[in-house]
Amino acid sequence: MSNSNTSFTARPGGVLSGTLRVPGDKSISHRSIMLGALAEGVTEVEGFLEGEDSLATLRAFRDMGVRIEGPDGGRVRIHGVGMHGLRAPAAALDLGNSGTSMRLMSGLLAGQGLDVTLVGDASLSKRPMKRVTAPLAEMGARIDTADNGTAPLRIHPVDGLRPIDYAMPVASAQVKSCLLLAGMYADGTTCVAEPAPTRDHTERMLQGFGYPVRRDGARACIDGGGTLRACAIDVPADISSAAFFLVGASIAEGSDLLLEHVGINPTRDGVINILRLMGADIEIRNRREVGGEPVADLRVRSAPLKGIRIPEDQVPLAIDEFPVLFVAAACADGETVLTGAEELRVKESDRIQVMADGLQAVGVDARPTPDGIVIQGGPIGGGRVDSHGDHRIAMAFTMAGLRASAPIHIDDCANVNTSFPRFVDLAAGVGCAVESNDG
Ligand code: S3P
Repeated sequence: MSNSNTSFTARPGGVLSGTLRVPGDKSISHRSIMLGALAEGVTEVEGFLEGEDSLATLRAFRDMGVRIEGPDGGRVRIHGVGMHGLRAPAAALDLGNSGTSMRLMSGLLAGQGLDVTLVGDASLSKRPMKRVTAPLAEMGARIDTADNGTAPLRIHPVDGLRPIDYAMPVASAQVKSCLLLAGMYADGTTCVAEPAPTRDHTERMLQGFGYPVRRDGARACIDGGGTLRACAIDVPADISSAAFFLVGASIAEGSDLLLEHVGINPTRDGVINILRLMGADIEIRNRREVGGEPVADLRVRSAPLKGIRIPEDQVPLAIDEFPVLFVAAACADGETVLTGAEELRVKESDRIQVMADGLQAVGVDARPTPDGIVIQGGPIGGGRVDSHGDHRIAMAFTMAGLRASAPIHIDDCANVNTSFPRFVDLAAGVGCAVESNDG
């Protein structure tokens, strides 16, 4: 469980080499439990992420009466209860740090006639939930939030949902997925239009479970009243976890690292595109399709990076990778400018401010703007950085150690376990001089 006293020390230097398979994709792991639970039959999952976030989803469905075996070495067996087989849980469902669990489950549960309360930790309890509860209310759902539109969310039983044709104001896969899952319980066709492409794992997995989703330009549409058929799911390694090593090996001179079985879904590959624009040497090998998702091995060798203006169309495709991309920018020659990324302010922390503070603490010229940041490449010193309990901030600064002139002490790192269990061991195994200190 979380220990807010966990800190990391990233010592200077290190070369990354060898072969690494990072843990399973978090987004796909959550969705495998949710759809497996509602399916007819037994869904077998391999490569499931045994991190706190996806385990929170797993426990929540157990609490609603679903028999789930595992996880055991990434294997999970979900005994589906069918579209209407969930039972109201005895107590509130605690979703910890996981925004994906809360936003997707609010849609999945909105039309089920159950009385369910969803709660989260301090970070999750500050994140905006109106973006899902407002369109769900238009569908006829009854969900109470705290006064400022945040968790806890109390879902009241209703008699069914109306379909909606919704144009999302923000490019959010969580909002899109929430409404498509709610749409399975609506009386008619629900459509969601996105202002820019966002990750499409929900649509792909629904198809895999035999539930059709239609694409019509920027709109995804689903008919209510269908059923899901259990299937086998092979979860690829998470590109968001691989991203730390794509950057680490790029910035640590002499590195040559192979990342195996990484999901390279085109709605998630912004980190590769952005790093390549900066001059990174990333080779995509052995492209294949695994269970409806594109997968490849990524070979990355160190290369001199240059500062760039990050194309705004890449922002939703790299939304979780910016903390470590800012470290790449700090190691690049020249200035990197990010705009159009205000969403970063409402992630597990305010990732623009927290990264700017941390980079400044180790001597980097990083200036936050309302919707992005401006970073001048230059030397990285040592110092003390506060991750604010944000897993991706902690892991990003671990990579900064590879180019630092003195140790970087990173505080409040326990939440690395939400997405990347055994991060410190795996990072040390390929050449990072990092250690974890449990205070
Ligand atoms: C996720 C979508 C993204 C991402 C999050 C996981 C998902 O959030 O940041 O880590 O699994 O759908 P938004 O869609 O809100 O940008």
